[in-house]
Formats: sequence, C-alpha cells, structure tokens
Amino acid sequence: MISVSGKRDYKGQVIFLYEDDSSYIPDEVLEARNISSTLEGKLYSVTNIYISNKFYVIVGLGGYRDLDMKKLKSVVAKSVKQMKKAGIEEYGMDITPFIQRFDSQCLFHLVEGIKLGNYEFYGYKTDKKEYDYTVFLQGIHKDINQVKEIIHKAENIVDGIIIARDLVNAPANRLTPELLSQEVILLGDKAGFEVEILKEDELEELNMKAFLTVGSSSGNSPRLIVMRYKGDSTSDKVAGLVGKGVTCDTGGYCLKASNTMGGIKGDMAGGAAVIGAIYGLAMNKVKTNVVGIIPACENRISRESYIPGDVIDSMSGKTIEIINTDAEGRLILADAITYGIKVEGIDKVIDIATLTSAVVAALGFTTTGVLTNNTEFYDKLIKASEKSGEQFWRFPIYDEYRDMLKSDIADIKNMGKDYLGTVTAGLFIGSFAEKLPWIHMDIAGTAWVNPPIFQYQSEGATGAPVTSLYFLFGMGDE
Ligand code: BES
Ligand code: ZN
Ligand code: ZN
Repeated sequence: MISVSGKRDYKGQVIFLYEDDSSYIPDEVLEARNISSTLEGKLYSVTNIYISNKFYVIVGLGGYRDLDMKKLKSVVAKSVKQMKKAGIEEYGMDITPFIQRFDSQCLFHLVEGIKLGNYEFYGYKTDKKEYDYTVFLQGIHKDINQVKEIIHKAENIVDGIIIARDLVNAPANRLTPELLSQEVILLGDKAGFEVEILKEDELEELNMKAFLTVGSSSGNSPRLIVMRYKGDSTSDKVAGLVGKGVTCDTGGYCLKASNTMGGIKGDMAGGAAVIGAIYGLAMNKVKTNVVGIIPACENRISRESYIPGDVIDSMSGKTIEIINTDAEGRLILADAITYGIKVEGIDKVIDIATLTSAVVAALGFTTTGVLTNNTEFYDKLIKASEKSGEQFWRFPIYDEYRDMLKSDIADIKNMGKDYLGTVTAGLFIGSFAEKLPWIHMDIAGTAWVNPPIFQYQSEGATGAPVTSLYFLFGMGDE
C-alpha cells in the first residue's frame, strides 16, 4: 500500500541522495556520511545502514540535472527491493528530491517504481507467504488531496500492468482460453466494462475460419473475448485494441524445438496488455471509447490441426496458404481485426502480439517493433511513450516487401521467404485492416525478460506495453 502521511517515525526509512545536493538530508544521515564513503549519491548506489535502531536504505540519484523519469522509476524500485529483502513491512520514503526536481509530475513513475519493484509472481507454491507492505511518502507539502488523487489514478494504471504480468506468468494449464475469459469477466465487473465471450458455434456463424483453424488444434476450444469500454458518450467513434491470445504456442505440426518452448505460455501477452490497459482506462473513467478484442486459443497438435500446404478461409473472405503452422498469431489476429471492423465498427486499430523472433534479433528486449500506415497515429503513440517511458521503433514499409507474401494458390500466404520476418508478419496483419489507421506492435522481445534488465522488472512477464496503450487514450494529468 502507498500512503501519504506526515508521520515520520518508522522502523525503516528510504532516503534518496543526489551527488550534488544534500540540503534535505536529515542530520543523522549526514553524520553517517562522514563515516561511510559509499554515501556519495552515485546513481544506483545503495547503502543499507542502521542508525539509532532504524534501518536506512540510502540510494544514490547521481547529479540533480541528470535525473530523469526512467532513472527515478529504477531507483525507487531498487529502494523498495532492499526493504523487502530486509523484511520491513512499514517504512517511510522521503520523496523531497523528486518533488523539488519534477513537482507532482514524478508521482506516476514513483508509484510505478514502488509497485513494480515489489511485484512478485507468487505462483502455486503451497507455502507461499506474501509480503504486505506500506510505504509512507514524506515530503509532500501542498495540495495533499490532489496528490492523493494522482496517486490513486496511477495505482489503477499500474494495477493494469500487474494484471497483465500475472496473466502472462500463468502457465497454459492454469490459463486456458476459457479460464482467461472468466478472468476478464471478473475484471469487467470490477472496473465497469462490458464483456462478451464468443464460443465456437458463434465463431462459425461469423465465419471466423482462420481463427477456428488454429483453435481446432486443441481440445481446449477457442474463445473470442470482447471487452467494450464506452467512456465517451459524446462520440460514436471507437478504437479497436486487438491482442494475440495464444495461451500456449507449441508451433503445431511445425513444432518448436524443446529448448525454445520455455516461454510458450507467454504467447497471450498482447491480449494481456489489452486487458491491463482497458482495466486502467475503465478504473480511471477516462473519456474515450475502446473495444478490446482477444482471439484466445492454443496452438497444438491434434487430429484436427492444420498442416503446411493447407489453404484456409478467413472472415474477410480472403484465402490463406499455410506455409508454417508456427506463424499462427497473424491468422487469428486477421480474423479478430475483421470482426472489429464488421461487428464492432472500429474506426482505427492497434494490434499487439508476441509475433516474431525476428523482432528480438532486430531490437532486443527493451524496444517494441512497430509497423503503421498512419504517421499521425504513430506520432500519438510516441507522445504516449514519452509519458510511459517505454520504447518503440518503427519499421519501414516498401512496396516490394508486400510482394513477399504473394501466394501462387491463395490470396496471401502466412509466411515470407527469407529475412524481414517482423515486417512480413506485420504486413500480413495490416492487409486485413482495410483502410483504417493501423498500428502493429510486435512485443515478442519486450513482453518477457529473463533475466530482468531494469530494476522495476522481475523475471518473466513485463506488462509491456500497458502504460503506453493507456496514455495513448488517457493523456490526462495522471
Ligand atoms: N509466438 C511466436 C513468436 C515468439 C518467438 C514470441 C519468441 C516470443 C518469443 C510466433 O507464433 C512464432 O512462432 N513465430 C515464428 C514465425 C515464423 C514461423 C514465420 C518465428 O518468429 O519464428
Ligand atoms: Zn508460433
Ligand atoms: Zn505464437
């Protein structure tokens, strides 16, 4: 829990120390500085020290002018991890240096640092003991009620990240398409958005053949999860957020090698990000209309599974030649986008997917790959990313790239030949977006980290890109 309190005496105390400004540091800590040369305020340096029976965690911030929001989020996460390690459940945190530097603008990243630094996937151990903490923020002197409101909204957004992380970390047998649907229904009840779950017979009626083809590879049948959040009654426009919901991806008949199967439960991270973002928007009653569409299914081997060489139909009417059954994400996303256009009347679309290993080769684990047909829409994403601190990079689209998906026997094929795997995968999906403004996010690198790269991450799911999606629609003063 995060509390805004003037009370000053706790068993634990977090202090942040600039290299070049210590005017706000309490005397007892300054005295300790004389005896400990590590207390110089170097960025990310940590000193844990008892001073008159109180446990101090002192974290360096580097130079006053060099501090930015990303560093702030990391130092805060680092500090709370120290308290957690020491088993201290109640402690003060003096945020004067952040307020001095950034005023209330620092609060979102502060909340993120605290909650994500403390995040842990507790899993299914029978003897789990959850750590229950309260951080008392000190150093807020004005507009306490306004600060509380900002913190409350920030907590809702970060809860969206945590929801996404928990879903992605859950293994395939504990999160089948049906179980995922049930989780979304519960979240809809809590946050106030409408949820509709479409089962196989309804998907048949809609002719969602590409989605059904992948889904029929498993006894755990597919579900189309539709989340409707209508926060702006003055507008009839609605944006579509389409997230890949493959609850496990074995590759199907084009089976993955066993040593690459580690992360297959995380192949619904795009869907999880959509769920987390819409949760935050609904909790904060943001004035916008979005519909989340998540085709949830498994990609396995069964008697019914599709095989390379097959030609399948799609809801759009286009026929698709299957080159590789492991390129399943684009098939289900194609139908989900068509559903968004034909049934929900979306006026723009963002699709989010753990789609290609090629994007990891290109951009690594900290940057999401983007394709888009609309620069204005992309600029809005970049603005949102400046608030979220997440990184995106746009891939080029040239006419000759489109030729790579031409099939001899169908309208399109589901895989290009060599290279450009991220671009061809994105272009496949984009060809189903018709003329709508479209952004494609390939989060295969950013959804999952092992080992963690930043202090506010823990091994496994990251919750990317929940906050960027949130800020794309909720650019208020959260
Ligand atoms: N879900 C995978 C992509 C992936 C790879 C996500 C690694 C996370 C980490 C996707 O369905 C897939 O298998 N893609 C293939 C496509 C290829 C067969 C055209 C890939 O990228 O290898
Ligand atoms: Zn695959
Ligand atoms: Zn996949």
